[in-house]
Amino acid sequence: MRTRFIIAALVWTVASAASAQAPTPDAVESPADYRGCVLSKCHGTPGAFIELEDGSTRPMTVDTSHLVDSAHKKLSCIECHSDIEVIPHPADLKLVNCESCHYAQNPRGAPNVGQFKQYPESVHGRKRAEGDEKAPYCTDCHGVHDIQGPDTPSSHVHRKELAGTCGGCHEDESTTYATSIHGTELAADNPDTPACIDCHGVHDILEVGDPESRVHSTHVVETCSRCHAAVALADRYGFSALRVESYEESFHGLADKYDVTVVANCSSCHGIHNILPHTEPDSTIHAANLLDTCGQTDCHPDAQDLFATGEVHMGIAEARPVAVSFVRALYMLLIVGVIGAMAVHNLFDLRAVTRDRRATTQRRDA
Ligand code: HEC
Ligand code: HEC
Ligand code: HEC
Ligand code: HEC
Ligand code: HEC
Ligand code: HEC
Ligand code: HEC
Repeated sequence: MRTRFIIAALVWTVASAASAQAPTPDAVESPADYRGCVLSKCHGTPGAFIELEDGSTRPMTVDTSHLVDSAHKKLSCIECHSDIEVIPHPADLKLVNCESCHYAQNPRGAPNVGQFKQYPESVHGRKRAEGDEKAPYCTDCHGVHDIQGPDTPSSHVHRKELAGTCGGCHEDESTTYATSIHGTELAADNPDTPACIDCHGVHDILEVGDPESRVHSTHVVETCSRCHAAVALADRYGFSALRVESYEESFHGLADKYDVTVVANCSSCHGIHNILPHTEPDSTIHAANLLDTCGQTDCHPDAQDLFATGEVHMGIAEARPVAVSFVRALYMLLIVGVIGAMAVHNLFDLRAVTRDRRATTQRRDA
């Protein structure tokens, strides 16, 4: 539980004295009660603290410059702190409920892009509801009095701030991401490069193991393809939009289409948060690392040099090495062979089962 306000009687003495002061008109268009709350000594004295029952202290000061720059500049204090009815107010205030305004078709015009429905079903919402204090509520990602829309550069949820906002809790992923091609491009203001939310979602983030997750092994191809199969982006950055098509034609791609999860998807070869161009020595697809990448114990433990030097995204290369064409043909043969054999096997199996069942029914009937 987060600590609640336990406001000592002493504070209220100060409060009453403060409310007697003539309020100075607020320079910025802000609701009248800002003056009462903030220009009073209660919430307006820099560095003011209250002492809580357990002996700890909590800041009392509200920096109006945060509020007047925030998306909520037109709201009054008590619209959010809605259980305040009298001043001085009771000590035990409820936490602010963002969802009291941000729901679909709310009359206040608070934007809602499904947060109201999606958040409780996300991994964060569910963990939070189960009592996991480490899982974020709205304020952990958005801030408190300084909440701004995602397009404002200083917003905690601006694309460029996300590595920090999500990274406050997911440090390893964020640190790695920052050194990847996607991370360095984001830092360099490239608007087309993925931030955390482009691969994971926003209010609907799910566990990696959830089959519905955008980063579940069966959805990785789809997630990367949104950009890497887009011709406009390909033209802009000089990468081939055929990467996806060529992958899909390959053995790995065909198997992925049929949801065989053990096969290589984009991330198995390119990495996840550490994706780099093949020219970078640290890249998983740098020539020197390819054998390691393909030879991951559960993939191709016996991968030979020949295998590693073959074109992976076949079809892009104009002249395909003979060995690669051969492996490709072999793969196609294998796919047709394995799937065909499986189909025939299943057909026989089905016949056997139906025959058995018919026999049992006849025996029962007799
Ligand atoms: C957009 C809604 C919103 C508005 C408007 C708002 N607050 Fe808050 N305030 C919050 C949230 C969220 C918290 C974090 C604690 C919680 O969840 O209740 C908070 C916390 C506080 C705290 C505790 C400070 C701390 O650091 O723990 C004080 C004091 C406070 N608000 C005073 C004010 C005053 C005074 C105003 C008007 C000038 C105001 N608030 C306007 C949402 C709001
Ligand atoms: C009293 C109603 C109310 C409460 C409570 C409230 N909001 Fe808002 N919020 C609004 C309104 C209204 C707007 C639109 C303001 C505008 O456009 O002038 C808004 C705007 C926003 C925006 C900016 C959206 C954009 O695209 O510009 C974000 C983000 C946001 N709120 C998040 C929160 C969070 C997080 C909380 C909880 C701490 C919260 N709100 C609590 C009414 C509320
Ligand atoms: C895990 C972090 C996280 C949590 C938790 C979270 N949000 Fe957000 N929210 C974001 C990010 C990131 C964006 C920006 C999305 C974008 O750039 O499209 C956003 C966008 C928004 C917007 C602006 C939508 C728009 O397009 O104008 C509102 C409003 C909002 N969130 C409200 C909430 C509310 C209410 C909650 C709690 C029920 C909440 N958020 C919980 C990360 C979060
Ligand atoms: C290019 C797409 C992409 C981007 C950008 C991205 N991720 Fe991921 N992330 C993935 C994939 C794919 C996985 C699933 C890995 C797996 O299968 O184990 C993942 C897994 C995760 C996990 C779970 C790790 C685990 O071991 O269970 C977390 C947490 C995470 N990402 C956070 C982040 C954060 C924070 C950011 C931004 C700093 C981010 N991701 C950016 C694609 C991405
Ligand atoms: C206040 C801390 C906090 C913040 C901020 C936060 N998360 Fe999380 N996140 C958690 C916790 C706790 C879990 C639950 C699973 C766990 O224990 O790892 C989780 C789970 C996840 C998972 C699923 C991991 C898995 O094991 O499958 C992903 C992906 C993820 N978060 C991404 C993000 C992204 C992207 C952002 C920013 C938009 C973000 N998180 C912001 C705390 C946070
Ligand atoms: C939101 C769009 C987007 C998503 C999603 C995305 N990427 Fe990228 N990616 C880019 C852009 C843009 C670049 C180019 C940066 C540059 O070259 O300047 C890039 C660069 C790359 C590169 C280096 C290419 C080169 O020619 O240097 C690789 C490899 C890569 N991405 C793989 C992936 C994989 C694998 C995924 C999925 C896990 C993925 N990307 C998801 C946009 C995206
Ligand atoms: C079996 C491993 C493997 C899989 C699966 C794979 N790739 Fe690749 N990818 C490579 C290798 C190796 C290279 C570099 C050699 C080449 O150009 O063919 C590469 C090159 C790339 C490049 C250009 C990078 C550069 O530095 O020039 C991009 C972009 C790319 N792949 C995207 C994808 C996407 C998107 C997917 C999923 C649809 C995917 N890859 C699946 C191994 C793989």
